[in-house]
Amino acid sequence: PHVLILAGGISHERDVSLKSGRRVADALTDAGAQVEIREPDDELIGHLMASRPDVVWSTLHGSVGEDGSLQDLLRLAHIPFVGSDSDGAKLAWNKPAAKVIMKRHGVQTPDSITLPKSTFRELNAEAVLALVAAELAFPLVVKPAMSGSAQGVSKVENAQQFAKAMVDAFVYCDHALIEKFVAGTELAISVIDLGFGARALPAVEVEPFSGQFGYQERYVPGETNYYVPARLRPTELERAAELALLAHSALRLRHLSRVDIIVDHEGTPWFLEANVTPGMTETSLFPQAILAEGETLSEAYLSIATAAIR
Ligand code: DAL
Ligand code: MG
Repeated sequence: PHVLILAGGISHERDVSLKSGRRVADALTDAGAQVEIREPDDELIGHLMASRPDVVWSTLHGSVGEDGSLQDLLRLAHIPFVGSDSDGAKLAWNKPAAKVIMKRHGVQTPDSITLPKSTFRELNAEAVLALVAAELAFPLVVKPAMSGSAQGVSKVENAQQFAKAMVDAFVYCDHALIEKFVAGTELAISVIDLGFGARALPAVEVEPFSGQFGYQERYVPGETNYYVPARLRPTELERAAELALLAHSALRLRHLSRVDIIVDHEGTPWFLEANVTPGMTETSLFPQAILAEGETLSEAYLSIATAAIR
């Protein structure tokens, strides 16, 4: 098939996207597909209409590719594409919304508050902190409500660290999600769903040397230990996989996704977020999970691209 891969873009995750796109392109080329990589520039729509690829595979991370707008465009153009439709993308991209939905499905997700930047401008940092502290106890995790690759994410141990964490989150999004920190094992479960039942891939556990799975820890080789499958009991792995599959269906995701989870010391899985365009770089978790199953990336990606054309 003729596969058009979209990579790059103008989000904060541009560099990650370029790496993801390159690696997916290489795997699909090895599988015999006719592959073209493009930036989502001003000429994209004209190019799509003129070239009519069999399928578009977007590896655009960040708002440009994950907030549903690209998916709407492709749907309007009647061009098949890999990944979730715009409904699913919108739900997963908005972390607070995704948490509400998962909570309604009986899943644990850290208690949280979402605050707009305007609150932070109107009140002083101390007043905002008092508002938060009335509901949530330290330690907290502050993150942009919509963003990726752990950019603008901080663990906040005490009141002194709060204001800076909020400012860092607001660089990436005009809403900050303030979550109660849950201690435990951090893992990601990738889901593949090609139309005949979604299946969870082996859980990939992350153990960053710094203690926090930030941007460096995700993309600089040697900064994180990965364990596939995660070092948990079989029943804990099963519960986490069930959560991932539930998130995939409840958020109406399609073809592929990655659900990020913490399993606490009692073995309970907590939903953190779902990703419609998981990283596909050399250090990324989705490809690690495929390789751990003994499949090649070429086989897996060709079957995903082919399923998206049907
Ligand atoms: N947002 C990054 C690419 C990820 O979820 O893997
Ligand atoms: Mg994410």
